[in-house]
Amino acid sequence: MQKLAIQGGKPCRDTDANPWPKWPVWGKEEEQALIEVLNSGVWSYNGPKEIEFNKLFAEFTGTKYAICTVNGTITMQLALEALGIGVGDEVIVPGLTWQATAATVIDVNATPILVDILEDTWCIDPTAIEKAITPNTKAIIPVHLYGAFADMDAIMEIAKKHNLFVIEDCAHKHGGEWKGMKAGSIGNVGSFSYQLSKHLTAGEGGSMTTNDADLAEKLDALRNVGRRPEGDSLIGADKGIGDYGDDGNFIQSGNYRITEFQAAILIEGLKRLPQQNATRDKNGAYLNEILKEIPGVTPLKRDDRETKKAYFNFAFRYDKSEFKELPIDKFRAALEAELGIVVDACYEPLNNCDLYVPHTKPSRHKLNESYWNSIDPSRFSLPVCERIFKEESVCLHHKILMGSQEDMDLIATAIRKIFNQAEELMA
Ligand SMILES: Cc1ncc(COP(=O)(O)O)c(C=O)c1O
Repeated sequence: MQKLAIQGGKPCRDTDANPWPKWPVWGKEEEQALIEVLNSGVWSYNGPKEIEFNKLFAEFTGTKYAICTVNGTITMQLALEALGIGVGDEVIVPGLTWQATAATVIDVNATPILVDILEDTWCIDPTAIEKAITPNTKAIIPVHLYGAFADMDAIMEIAKKHNLFVIEDCAHKHGGEWKGMKAGSIGNVGSFSYQLSKHLTAGEGGSMTTNDADLAEKLDALRNVGRRPEGDSLIGADKGIGDYGDDGNFIQSGNYRITEFQAAILIEGLKRLPQQNATRDKNGAYLNEILKEIPGVTPLKRDDRETKKAYFNFAFRYDKSEFKELPIDKFRAALEAELGIVVDACYEPLNNCDLYVPHTKPSRHKLNESYWNSIDPSRFSLPVCERIFKEESVCLHHKILMGSQEDMDLIATAIRKIFNQAEELMA
């Protein structure tokens, strides 16, 4: 039997000779587009690339409006502001997500209510949403996490029944579809991130999508120091220069504009995305199937209602009882050594997360004692999130899905190698 790489044996993949696909992907097209922007001297402020990208992304997401901005955190903050959510309001958020999903709720002085997830998709549990609803609930932020899609049938039904807004956190779902509807087109607002690890990237950036013209106008103004949309912008052109705000044309806000350089890269990246998503889908489906044959390894569920799959990470659940009780951190380290790629846990549950610590900012968040207590993350019980994080989660970056079928076989081979030698590794 081949010795495990973590014990000094030969790894399954020699990444010097045979590297994994690289991320990000760029080519001559991006180089030319960047030089074009440079030479134009128009580097920001509702420039032609930004307007073009907004149009293309609206088309891509099947929404009427897409508005790009600085990142996928501000997208959610501005969505909450545009929906009028603030002091006294509660927003239901999954306990397993990047900290921004909850932190933005606090940044508009509302209260994030953390609820548990479903173990087979790691997305928000609709039953837990129903239980968390109070007269103060105003919105739900489902996150389409890693490779999965939140159950939008159930979520939209709950939202309708209780008259709640839905902001879809699509930071991991550019191009995914639920029953033919694009991610970001189902709720009131879709929120996208273009941070470097995401499968559409400009290093940083984000977009807000919506079908609601008034909301689009507000979102556009909020990302541009409160100025109403210009006549030649997507929204301005559509609506004409109309009135805005309660009694005037402006609203208080900050500068959350992106640059033309980012928009230029996003235009080119968007052209590549459908093909990249299709490759990741094909490889993800294949990997799902072959991993099912290894005891103790359960890939996240591929729901039939996901008519188009978009992967951020490839994630699966690990059951140490099938691996001779090998602790999950040892399993991840052994897999990392075999594959020569980072093997991560999922996000830390937000009720105990180093990066979600609202009580470190009393001068900003201590509006009063009751609000201060309400934003204490530790008051929420999230047993499924905690179990998945501590005992079960294994995540691989989407770039591994951009290779060949042989690459997928190799991942399964590496896991099987650890499975066969779990006892030695324990010793
Ligand atoms: C689920 C989720 N939501 C929101 C964000 C925030 O996006 P950004 O980093 O662009 O602010 C991220 C980024 O990692 C994310 O993973």
